[in-house]
Amino acid sequence: MSTLVANRIVKTFNVKRGGKTSELRAVNDVSLTVAPGEIVGLVGESGCGKTTLSRIMIGIETATAGEITYDGRPVKSRADWRDLRRSVQYVFQDPFTALCPTMRIGDALAEPLAIHNICPPAERKARVIRMLEMVGLHADVARRLPNQLSGGQRQRVNLARALMLEPKVLICDEIVSGLDVSVQAQVLALLIELQERLGLSLVFISHDLRVVRYLCSRVLVMYMGEVVEQGAVEAVFDNPQHTYTQALLAAIPDHSRLTAAAS
Ligand SMILES: Nc1ncnc2c1ncn2[C@@H]1O[C@H](COP(=O)(O)OP(=O)(O)OP(=O)(O)O)[C@@H](O)[C@H]1O
Ligand SMILES: [Mg+2]
Repeated sequence: MSTLVANRIVKTFNVKRGGKTSELRAVNDVSLTVAPGEIVGLVGESGCGKTTLSRIMIGIETATAGEITYDGRPVKSRADWRDLRRSVQYVFQDPFTALCPTMRIGDALAEPLAIHNICPPAERKARVIRMLEMVGLHADVARRLPNQLSGGQRQRVNLARALMLEPKVLICDEIVSGLDVSVQAQVLALLIELQERLGLSLVFISHDLRVVRYLCSRVLVMYMGEVVEQGAVEAVFDNPQHTYTQALLAAIPDHSRLTAAAS
């Protein structure tokens, strides 16, 4: 039932430095299972491979080794990936680059329906309006361009766009990191509401460990392309085993208060 699995994923990039090409192992033998309705956190310092792994999980990037399975079936052919992209959607780190600057919001939201040809053209507009309302935006937003929206509104539009195909899994990559703190809280509240209402599974990638603790039931800690620690969020955050996780947690200004408040 809509379980998404990354199985022993490896990704290497060839990088040129000073005229010489060398191999960079961005993801090194990482496995991740997302069960139906589950919220899994993915944390680790910048460059540890979180985005690369998630891009592989929806087929934007191809793995050097390992495989993705969905519903117990390996995702291999182009048709498999097309099917997967209806069920698994990615919400980008940067709402500015995620939306085409010259496309009206309504058209941007209708586009996935046209691509997958799943809703009669006459019904698309109504579906776009319904989705805008679901993410807390007024129907008028459909006529606007991305630069006529605030950052928070843009990230709501991104969520709406990801939800147009009624996916089962959302991969959220730093979706609130570019926003003001008060707007972050609103977008996160919306995410939680949508997750519960639609029974979504989430992969939640974030630098903000406080939010990860609040939102996720399970967490994976990546370090230099590898998962160094994983488990229930309370277990990992209250009793980190790996020195890197300990360092990551110690860097939160009031982590001791956070754990005290949670216990
Ligand atoms: N297309 C690419 N070509 C070469 N190297 C890449 C490419 N994409 C990513 N990398 C490298 O792979 C490593 C992992 O990058 P990735 O973007 O997955 O990290 P991340 O954990 O998402 O970081 P951040 O928290 O900053 O978003 C980095 O060293 C990065 O420079
Ligand atoms: Mg990233």
